Amino acid sequence: MTTSFDLTGKVIAITGASSGFGHHFAGVLASAGATVVLGARREEKLQARVRAIIANGGKALAVPLDVLNKNSIHNFIDAAFSNYGQLDVLINNAGVEAGAKTYTMIDEQDWDFVMDTNLKSAWLSSKYYTEQVQAHKQGGGNIVMISSITDTRTIKGQFPYAVSKGALTRMTEIMALEASRYKIRVNALAPGYILTDVSRILLESDAAPEFVKGIPMRRFGEFEDLDGPILLLASDASRYMTGSVIAVDGGHLCASL
Ligand SMILES: NC(=O)c1ccc[n+]([C@@H]2O[C@H](COP(=O)([O-])OP(=O)(O)OC[C@H]3O[C@@H](n4cnc5c(N)ncnc54)[C@H](OP(=O)(O)O)[C@@H]3O)[C@@H](O)[C@H]2O)c1
Repeated sequence: MTTSFDLTGKVIAITGASSGFGHHFAGVLASAGATVVLGARREEKLQARVRAIIANGGKALAVPLDVLNKNSIHNFIDAAFSNYGQLDVLINNAGVEAGAKTYTMIDEQDWDFVMDTNLKSAWLSSKYYTEQVQAHKQGGGNIVMISSITDTRTIKGQFPYAVSKGALTRMTEIMALEASRYKIRVNALAPGYILTDVSRILLESDAAPEFVKGIPMRRFGEFEDLDGPILLLASDASRYMTGSVIAVDGGHLCASL
């Protein structure tokens, strides 16, 4: 083996770490040796997660974060650099949906809320991270976007969520192209459906049993299904990967018509 999944000595910041994927990723990455910086609005949930990671022998820090606020994003990234002198990986995971709505049902507030949280914030944090990587002469970095399989396939009634994820995946690819000059890699994880607050509206609906029949593996995902892919993208094991989008979906994207 010339590549390593070991994260010892790495500092990784995760947005949206108070619940769902981000909460889970924090534990997985800390167990692999990383120091994790957790950001979200619900500070008490972050603190509880940090306590659990530390009790398990890991290293973690909670930093209040509202990704709708540029200063808060800057403060989050600054906290990693000021506490540890480095930030090796930024995981743009914070995300929201607007409910089961079509394009005729949403209003401007829904549009701005979802687009600003899922898309604009990922651009703002990546931009500031890139600036700080250079300012601290870190010599390179790594950005992981949490997209979704709605980036590729169409679905009714998840507007503008699916639009934001389509754009996030395209942003990953374009950013990868532009960030190479800074030795920053940019990749995305595109999970299928896993029960969290974001997916609850579909996965706990009457439509769920029919929906799952469209997944070749005939089940929704579990948090642990993402462990290998997130370790790959966050570690040097993916050192020759940039602009890649990894779907983890039980085959949902390749389901036949
Ligand atoms: N679940 C799925 O099936 C699925 C599939 C594909 C992709 N995803 C993506 O996975 C990511 C995580 O979502 P999840 O499913 O784990 O849902 P979740 O449990 O609701 O987690 C969303 C996280 O985003 C944070 N967040 C929302 N608005 C924020 C803001 N303004 N500032 C800072 N943090 C904010 C929330 O924290 P606070 O409320 O404490 O701020 C929470 O920690 C999202 O990008 C989602 O689109 C989910």
